[in-house]
Amino acid sequence: MSKPAIFKARRQRLAQAMQGGVAVIPTAPERQRNRDSHYAYRFDSYFHYLTGFAEPEAVLVLIAGASPKSILFCREKNLEREIWDGFRHGPEGAKEEFGFDEAYPVSQLEEMLPQLLADQPNLYFHLGADSEWDARAVGWLNRVREKGRSGVSAPGAIQDVRVLLDEMRLFKSPDEIATMRRAADISGAAHMRAMRAARPGGMEYQLEAELLHEFRRHGAQAPAYTSIVAGGANACVLHYVANDAELQDGDLVLVDAGCELDGYASDITRTFPVNGKFTGPQRDLYELVLAAQAEALFHVKPGRHWNVPHEAALKVLAQGFIDLGLCAGSLDAVLEKEAYKPFYMHKTGHWLGMDVHDVGNYKLAGEWRELQPGMTLTVEPGCYVRPGEGVPEQFWNIGIRIEDDVVVTESACEVLTGIAPKKVADIEALMRDSKERDKNA
Ligand code: GLY
Ligand code: MN
Ligand code: MN
Repeated sequence: MSKPAIFKARRQRLAQAMQGGVAVIPTAPERQRNRDSHYAYRFDSYFHYLTGFAEPEAVLVLIAGASPKSILFCREKNLEREIWDGFRHGPEGAKEEFGFDEAYPVSQLEEMLPQLLADQPNLYFHLGADSEWDARAVGWLNRVREKGRSGVSAPGAIQDVRVLLDEMRLFKSPDEIATMRRAADISGAAHMRAMRAARPGGMEYQLEAELLHEFRRHGAQAPAYTSIVAGGANACVLHYVANDAELQDGDLVLVDAGCELDGYASDITRTFPVNGKFTGPQRDLYELVLAAQAEALFHVKPGRHWNVPHEAALKVLAQGFIDLGLCAGSLDAVLEKEAYKPFYMHKTGHWLGMDVHDVGNYKLAGEWRELQPGMTLTVEPGCYVRPGEGVPEQFWNIGIRIEDDVVVTESACEVLTGIAPKKVADIEALMRDSKERDKNA
């Protein structure tokens, strides 16, 4: 299917899922960083999922019914602005290239929406996501109501369009999986590049630079989230993003980084020794986290519910914490009392897609939902040991996470991020080879 046909088919599916009415889906605004400088523009994921249109100041209006109609409101062509900021499709160009039924200048949205909403049963909207848009939606409805005396009725209900779209986005098509596979390959290569570049005395931000270099050189538009490069004790700060410390001989470094490619995220964590060789205690904990991940991955298959991989990883970790003297008592007691929590305090994964923490319910009617083919998620157990009374000192300040991206298949799951090594021997070999090369250079 051509790109426009893919987006059109999604709009048709959404229209069919709606109980009549009109969906209004704006893209994200441009955001100022500081004076005369903006953050790099990123479209809204829902809007892009339905249109493929990447310009700001655009709104999709989708009218459900027997023959659904897609209307795009976007910026007009403007030679002056295009000289400064670049190409704009304009309504006519966008209609042709992206396959909308109609397209109008975005300046006409406010005037046209009350007409489009007249006599429609529902307004589908991302209610509550943005107070300015909420106020605008109330304004459209009030203006339809004002026409009541001429026999026009206003939508009786506002529905959250995200309820329908989240469920659609949760199941990835082969086309989406192909993009995610390419994103995963780029990110995997970036992690290998960081492993090769690591050395005692180097800086965390130098590894971050290696990651960014690899992302961009393969055409990924941006990191999917702020990269974490955390040497030594910094790895025990789960959302560490300062990335400005020196990497120390004998420490591990935890790198959590993934690129966004064509609107899809990847999300990989690898943890490796700065000097290329794990110490005994580092290896003990690392092998434990790796075993927990293998167990979790085994349980990512159709029919298992969402939390089964997490519970499986937790059991392995808790038993390991007991064996290594981090926790005391029986496995059942450690799990029951959550005595593992000082060392493992997050969940083992999340949905992954256009957003790094992607949309989709984890429970249905109060129960963990079953995994099904086409769902994409991360599997990312970890272990973080802060100094403390009774905590064996050889493990102090070690933070480890191993994170891969997977897609649920008909029978099991496929790991998308497998090119980034994670076995101790493979990491050490890669880092040794790169040092040899440096020496011989
Ligand atoms: N990098 C974000 C996460 O792992 O959830
Ligand atoms: Mn993650
Ligand atoms: Mn991550």
